[in-house]
Amino acid sequence: MKTYRIASYPGDGIGPDVINEAISCLKKASQKHGFVIDITHFPWSCEWSREHDGRVVPEDFLDQLKPFDAIFLGAVGNPKIVPDHISLVPLVRMRQEFDQYVCLRPATLFPNVPTPLANKKPEDIDLVIVRENSEGEYIPAGGEFKMGKPEEVVIQTAVHSRKGVTRIIRQACELAMKRRKVLTMATKSNSLTHAMVFWDRILAEVSKDYPELKINKMHIDALSMALVRSPERFDVIVGSNLFGDILSDLAAALVGSLGLTPSANINPERVFPSLFEPVHGSAPDIAGKGIANPIAAIRSAAMMMDFLGEKEAARSIEQAVIDNLADGKVRTPDLGGTSTTHDVGEDILKRI
Ligand code: NAI
Ligand code: MG
Repeated sequence: MKTYRIASYPGDGIGPDVINEAISCLKKASQKHGFVIDITHFPWSCEWSREHDGRVVPEDFLDQLKPFDAIFLGAVGNPKIVPDHISLVPLVRMRQEFDQYVCLRPATLFPNVPTPLANKKPEDIDLVIVRENSEGEYIPAGGEFKMGKPEEVVIQTAVHSRKGVTRIIRQACELAMKRRKVLTMATKSNSLTHAMVFWDRILAEVSKDYPELKINKMHIDALSMALVRSPERFDVIVGSNLFGDILSDLAAALVGSLGLTPSANINPERVFPSLFEPVHGSAPDIAGKGIANPIAAIRSAAMMMDFLGEKEAARSIEQAVIDNLADGKVRTPDLGGTSTTHDVGEDILKRI
């Protein structure tokens, strides 16, 4: 039987709870559709760092992860133990060093899920954010000068390469071709006069190859407003690392909860393993309470199966989530319910 080797990296906070439920759903889907999921757990976390010289992952963690078919991550970060800018480093390094340059973040309003927007229905919000995931604002370039003195200065530098910008815009165009054929690029070329003028120029070049697409660019501030006022205008949105990150949480709120939105960090050439994780973080405010919504993680598992070629299994999981939400009886507090993480996981598992 076809076997997929998955590295599970639950991480911190609510990560282990939601990954646990998602793995149960994966196993059920694999039995139903006739393949094997072979999971190896990695206990790396902020808690783990207490017994490992303050390191949140071993030095060779990328070598350990490289042989797997995919990586399944919960969330990283526990600011009580390790500062966020240190605990997040392994995640950013996986994305950059495994060249997972495409980050796909679908945001769809499902039936019977409340949106904070008045008068918007499921058919009004169905979009995918395509985030540049390998460079941009998230590279570790910059420096500090005269720290601790009144005249202290910091510099944080972004890098936007022709290769990087071209390939992400092209990926977004390809995705839009398979969907409603509308692409919006987030820009800010009125103020970021080097970086975003460059993005605009490359969009103009790449768009020549896609005459069937309706291609538009919007300044990120106006785009954020439009997303709230008229989400139905959007289909595929492409943006830099930072813009894509921010828009993802906004889009998650529009479709009802950050507990619902999955993501795929993809290396399209399949030279390295791709990484699947919920959009949300480790949610320290609700960690340990057993009330985190596992749906974002479960849907990330579905994206992983889809990427690995198990399309039917992916569809079964996604449909089970849609049925759970439509039924509306078993849901966590973020969606107004009183159920636990495990209750929701079980309800979805039963429906697969
Ligand atoms: P967060 O995404 O963890 O939480 C934001 C808000 O959404 C919180 O009120 C939280 O309770 C709620 N929330 C998140 N996931 C939920 C779920 N599944 N069910 C119900 N409610 C949910 O973002 P925050 O608070 O900015 O960051 C917390 C920690 O997570 C930090 O250490 C941060 O660095 C880290 N982080 C890690 C990410 C990752 O591993 N991919 C992504 C974002 C943040
Ligand atoms: Mg984020």
